[in-house]
Amino acid sequence: MSSTAITDIATLVTNDPSLGQGSPLGLIQDAAVVIEDDRVVWTGESSKAPATDNRVDAGGRTVLPGFVDSHSHLVFAGDRTAEFNARMSGRPYHAGGIRTTVAATRAASDGELEANLTRYLSEALRQGTTTFETKSGYGLTVADEARALRIAAAHTDEVTYLGAHIVSPDYADDPAGYVALVTGEMLDACAPYARWIDVFCEKGAFDGDQARAILTAGKAKGLHPRVHANQLSHGPGVQLAVELDAASADHCTHLTAADIDALASGRTVATLLPGAEFSTRAQWPDARRLLDAGVTVALSTDCNPGSSFTSSVAFCIALAVRDMGMTPDEAVWSATAGGAAALRRTDIGRLAPGAYADLTLLDAPSHVHLAYRPGVPLVTGVWRRGTRIL
Ligand code: NIG
Ligand code: FE
Repeated sequence: MSSTAITDIATLVTNDPSLGQGSPLGLIQDAAVVIEDDRVVWTGESSKAPATDNRVDAGGRTVLPGFVDSHSHLVFAGDRTAEFNARMSGRPYHAGGIRTTVAATRAASDGELEANLTRYLSEALRQGTTTFETKSGYGLTVADEARALRIAAAHTDEVTYLGAHIVSPDYADDPAGYVALVTGEMLDACAPYARWIDVFCEKGAFDGDQARAILTAGKAKGLHPRVHANQLSHGPGVQLAVELDAASADHCTHLTAADIDALASGRTVATLLPGAEFSTRAQWPDARRLLDAGVTVALSTDCNPGSSFTSSVAFCIALAVRDMGMTPDEAVWSATAGGAAALRRTDIGRLAPGAYADLTLLDAPSHVHLAYRPGVPLVTGVWRRGTRIL
């Protein structure tokens, strides 16, 4: 057993509401945090830190929980630079672009897919993301979906089966046949590797009835639902997510008052993904409206080659503050504790005794600088499970 104290922290974000003078961030100034093996064992004033085997002087910088990126699509090959260029010249984003990545992913070897995944994971880790969820959805055959999940499961516990990303091009004339595959043979092959099941409930992808059938079949196999909901237009996704007690309704860009009431009435988290609105030049989700209604909000990257090719949670925080009505405190909470809530986890996203020692050290006097200094690489230290990796 080895212990380390990180001392002389100007601002420590604990996300422990009992500490925070009313702020959910549970801020401690002039703080220290003590790690033993992979866990946090103590937080408090730096001058009161207990004796430890090792000491790291934070030099008046900020420590916060590692980011919890609860929504990404990282098992893919190729990129979509041409599509992005076309979009920036005025072409709209639509779900059909996914087919380009499906073709490239099917053609890639297992080794290429895994190398791509680990490249983006280490990119994210260096930027302070210590937990990530990732999905299948660019294979759309039984074998290609199962291998995507097998590769993902070697790198994270938070794996999501998204066979229902779009109707496979092989079933273009038989969407019902594809839903039968997704809820049958493909689900059987994929369930052993996944914790979650997701569906893209959208025009051009799956309608409400299809989404309900897919999520219900997944639940029967022990997978828990999360939903790509109301991203490109109004639709039934959000209310279906709440009805099925999904952990998260993701995107939530086009919401009616009834959608917001539904989210406020249940425990489904609204996960906002501003990288997608940035990269598709779409309207911003209204985080303020959700927060004012009492909805729990998570912020994540949606990192994927089509709609949001960023692995930077800090960038998403800056967008959420600038354009979605969030305060810096709210955005930082949503990117840490909010992400944990969207994964129904209490062992991450906070720095309190018992939680995993997943920490980010910022070269800034407070967490507010994540939004105040957009685009600046402020992350200068990262610990994951108690081990310093940066
Ligand atoms: O979350 N909305 C569906 N899926 C992705 C986009 C995938 C793609 O364009 O390749 C998203 O934005
Ligand atoms: Fe997504």
